[in-house]
Amino acid sequence: MSTRAPEVRICKNQEAAVPLLLQEVRPLASPARRALLGLATGSTFTKFLQALAEELRAGHTLADNLVATHLDEYAGFAPDRVGGMVHELGTHCPPLLTMLARGTFVPVPYVGDAGLLRAHAERLQQLGGVQVQFLGIGRNGHLAFNEPGTAFDSGFHVTTLAETTREDARPRFLPAEPPAQAVTSGLATILAAKRLVLCAFGKAKAAAVRAMLQGEVSTKCPASVLQNHGNVLVLLDPEAASGLGGAASAS
Ligand code: GLP
Repeated sequence: MSTRAPEVRICKNQEAAVPLLLQEVRPLASPARRALLGLATGSTFTKFLQALAEELRAGHTLADNLVATHLDEYAGFAPDRVGGMVHELGTHCPPLLTMLARGTFVPVPYVGDAGLLRAHAERLQQLGGVQVQFLGIGRNGHLAFNEPGTAFDSGFHVTTLAETTREDARPRFLPAEPPAQAVTSGLATILAAKRLVLCAFGKAKAAAVRAMLQGEVSTKCPASVLQNHGNVLVLLDPEAASGLGGAASAS
């Protein structure tokens, strides 16, 4: 348990957060370090992923040395299946698909077999563990697909999605129904990363952001577990920050 509260920075909008996110990524990809980056999905990270794609196409150091993974996958969604998380990452950042083929992008298993999940967690350990983990937040305070009620000591597991999560995901699956289950990184897995960088943009996230930063630490708001970490940066736009009292620095 740490006493260092999350650092909160207010950015004008999602675009303004991109340079700060790229600054987090570049030091990981030095030839000497090749430290593991944990990516996140969701519309929150679209502009960052597009910028990362440009940087991977342009820069040899980053392209040669970046090693990455991500947080979660819909059950049954192989990397090439539309709607899946790896598919989404590859759509916004195609160089990740080259990395996938080369083994430097490590996908979350899309089948919740216990042996596969254990092997995936071990693979991340062999790569030194996640150094910087990017995170979004659900309207209900979820991190990855750790819905309210998930134990703080959870590792990779299969989860049943909350109704609000399925509602928010509905447009990407139309005319089909959104999936009911996913494979997700657990809260203990997420907290094991050396540094966490959470982004939230828009009014719909304001209540969850307030509960995360100023509510009690409780499984009712999974993201409140970030208060226990000690090396957390939270990037918000003014709307996502609108429920907060107190100081935050502007970028
Ligand atoms: C999904 C993902 C989360 C993400 C959330 C928010 O539920 N599993 O990792 O934080 O969506 O998505 P968006 O950024 O689209 O609001």
